[in-house]
Amino acid sequence: MDKVCFDNVKMNMEVMFCLFLLFMVSVVEAKQGMSLSAQKLEVQKHLNRLNKTPIKSIKSPDGDIIDCVNMSHQPAFDHPLLKNHTLQMMPNYHPEGLFRNGKMSKANTKNEGSNSITQLWHLNGKCPEGTIPIRRTKKDDILRASNMKSYGRKNKHSTIAKPQSGRPGLVSQTGHQHAIAYVEGDKYYGAKATINVWEPKIQQPNEFSLSQIWLLGGSFDSDLNSIEAGWQVSPDLYGDNNTRLFTYWTSDAYQATGCYNLLCSGFIQINNEIAMGATINPLSSYHGSQYDISILVWKDPKEGNWWMQFGNDYVLGYWPGFLFSYLTDHATMVEWGGEVVNSESDGLHTTTQMGSGHFPDEGFGKSSYFRNVQVVDDSNNLRAPQDLEIYTEDNSCYDVQLGKNNDWGSYFYYGGPGRNPNCP
Ligand SMILES: *[C@@H]1O[C@H](CO)[C@@H](O)[C@H](O)[C@H]1NC(C)=O
Ligand SMILES: *[C@@H]1O[C@H](CO)[C@@H](O)[C@H](O)[C@H]1NC(C)=O
Ligand SMILES: *[C@@H]1O[C@H](CO)[C@@H](O)[C@H](O)[C@H]1NC(C)=O
Repeated sequence: MDKVCFDNVKMNMEVMFCLFLLFMVSVVEAKQGMSLSAQKLEVQKHLNRLNKTPIKSIKSPDGDIIDCVNMSHQPAFDHPLLKNHTLQMMPNYHPEGLFRNGKMSKANTKNEGSNSITQLWHLNGKCPEGTIPIRRTKKDDILRASNMKSYGRKNKHSTIAKPQSGRPGLVSQTGHQHAIAYVEGDKYYGAKATINVWEPKIQQPNEFSLSQIWLLGGSFDSDLNSIEAGWQVSPDLYGDNNTRLFTYWTSDAYQATGCYNLLCSGFIQINNEIAMGATINPLSSYHGSQYDISILVWKDPKEGNWWMQFGNDYVLGYWPGFLFSYLTDHATMVEWGGEVVNSESDGLHTTTQMGSGHFPDEGFGKSSYFRNVQVVDDSNNLRAPQDLEIYTEDNSCYDVQLGKNNDWGSYFYYGGPGRNPNCP
């Protein structure tokens, strides 16, 4: 630039033009410098908002840092409507009737025969009473998001499997594929299932694979209310391929409200042993040991809060009823199963796996399952759902198969490898 200007100057006009160009170049450079440090500042501000001052921190073998944060200082209490909220340390009601004298009675919990499952960070410590474990958000976590504000949120164009539409094209437009069982047409006050845990392979970092329960109310287009919980592998969200426990909620079809885990104000956690978003350990292996987790979400009829329990022993916390519109009363649909993102980055169907990456017909020890699938009915009782139906966009990529027996009640196998000769 300098050379061109000063070698070729012939007229005053040209000189002025050259000077003007030089000036513009330096302005642009200054602006870029500024926006870079402004961005750094923004990232830091965002991190400060997300990460509360811990009382103690635990380094997990997977590289996570788990912060033990004073329960009264958790992210939920940044919500203006929660400023005067009295923390509920116990639900008023439990659909399994486990509460005796205000305590969970372990004597009443039937051993369901599953191998015990915990979180990896437990190897290196515990969070004290009165605190909750929160997975610390790192700078890199935020920088991986396409836009900082969207970190921890689902894409606005996310859809939920909409089985009754009968128009699979509508769903696969956004590239999300499902293999699920579902019920609708009644009032649902909760849902439960025991899900075995795998580590599906993900083709592209911006894809994910998850297995979860959805409790849904409202219309699918604009005001969908959704509470979701299960396990997921999501390289974009966590920076690795580990299988993690997660929750999600939205009250406006993923537009402006809601987030994963504790990444926004919403879910109030009371438990000091289980961290949302932390790595689950151990995992099921093909032809080997099977490990599963139980998840129960139910509504406290008195306070209107939606509670979540992990396994038989951990009541994790609750979503305050006021976060929702339709779900303030009940859910109108419940779904259980898997979802993957098929971004077709190379023009072919993704090789991202769902569940174990094997089809349902391979059965126990090879295929992934949901067992003891139950709903909470309008008398607040847990029972097997009537008229459980299934849905998948393309059963040659991912499939689902229902079953019923005495041990497992209502159950299904689901999942698949994605791309294969029948799913090109
Ligand atoms: C919280 O309590 C204060 C003092 O009682 C009151 O002024 C304020 O409006 C309350 N805020 C909410 C969100 O209820
Ligand atoms: C949490 O903070 C409150 C005050 O906000 C304090 O009374 C309480 O002792 C703290 N708890 C712990 C475990 O530090
Ligand atoms: C995650 O898995 C993919 C292959 O499925 C691999 O290419 C990638 O390096 C893995 N990422 C990490 C952080 O281990």
